[in-house]
Amino acid sequence: MANTIISFKDVVKQYDEDDPVLKKINFDIEEGRFYTLLGPSGCGKTTILRIIAGFTDVSEGDIFFEGKRMNDIPANKRQVNTVFQDYALFPHMNVFDNVAFGLKIKKMSKKDIEKKVLEALKLVQLPGYENREITEMSGGQRQRVAIARAIVNEPKILLLDEPLSALDLKLRTDMQYELRALQKRLGITFIFVTHDQEEALAMSDEIFVMNKGKIVQSGTPVDIYDEPINHFVADFVGESNIVAGEMVEDNLVKFVGKTFECVDGGMRPNEPVEVVLRPEDLSLTTPEHGKLVVTVDTQLFRGVHYEMNCIDADGNEWMVHSTKKAKKGSKVGLYFEPEDIHVMRFNESEEDFEARLDSYED
Ligand SMILES: Nc1ncnc2c1ncn2[C@@H]1O[C@H](COP(=O)(O)OP(=O)(O)OP(=O)(O)O)[C@@H](O)[C@H]1O
Ligand SMILES: [Mg+2]
Repeated sequence: MANTIISFKDVVKQYDEDDPVLKKINFDIEEGRFYTLLGPSGCGKTTILRIIAGFTDVSEGDIFFEGKRMNDIPANKRQVNTVFQDYALFPHMNVFDNVAFGLKIKKMSKKDIEKKVLEALKLVQLPGYENREITEMSGGQRQRVAIARAIVNEPKILLLDEPLSALDLKLRTDMQYELRALQKRLGITFIFVTHDQEEALAMSDEIFVMNKGKIVQSGTPVDIYDEPINHFVADFVGESNIVAGEMVEDNLVKFVGKTFECVDGGMRPNEPVEVVLRPEDLSLTTPEHGKLVVTVDTQLFRGVHYEMNCIDADGNEWMVHSTKKAKKGSKVGLYFEPEDIHVMRFNESEEDFEARLDSYED
């Protein structure tokens, strides 16, 4: 079993009389794993990182580092390094000196510093940029310098606040692989913040999905994607078709007026539920072979697949991702397997309910 390196116990953060920005946050972070905080803008991701780093204090609750309470330990005594959302590089220093900064403070030999800095720059795909001024670098390049500066110190925990947001798609994907490989190689615990669900799914051992100051679900990428706990998670993590239904009995769910076989169970007979069908799990077929019959309303070419918005007889919208094309206005069948149906309980807290209403408005 891995060691727990950081724990949050009932952590609350409140500014003035405002609604708390973190509401009773609890989690354990295990050593050597890659964690992602995923959630919409303003949900409290940066606040959690700032609390771990020691730049923000908590209003209530405790934080532990390797079992020791660290609420009152100053930032410079924590074995944590941070890549900030705004990079926070030293503008009057060149790239080399920015990356070397922490090592110089540690009084490492010149030769070792040079070796480590050049290695770190190579890792972030910036070899040969040592002598450039920061002011002469693009946003994406600065972001990579900031990553190099953080990893060169080999901290126990690396906090990364949206470190790839300024990069183009190709470089972003390359850096996702690089960071993941780096994390595995160094064995450092990474806590990565993003509001990009694809990035979270691609990189993490474990994802904490956040909304409005709370962790609403935690789990592996596959858990979160396949078994979203509520409407918010299903909607935020991946594209989803979500409709209201009821669980007739175990393995039998009713929605859009029909009853379908499924693999979920353990609910009351006729318990109201929400049903999730992912666009990529719906395959196009003829109306006779379809479990649902819909009309194609719009179609977009997305590179690997076509994205179609379809409408059923009751007016429900169904998004379909398919490598096949269908004519706008044509009637098609949608086929899916029992295991493609994901049933979610409808027992929501007031806040989840509000979040769901918000998501309907989007
Ligand atoms: N110093 C502060 N005083 C008052 N409110 C603050 C302060 N810092 C942050 N907040 C509020 O706390 C909430 C959470 O902010 P936080 O920066 O953690 O969000 P985030 O999830 O990182 O968002 P983003 O994805 O936009 O970076 C926001 O509503 C923000 O306005
Ligand atoms: Mg933030």
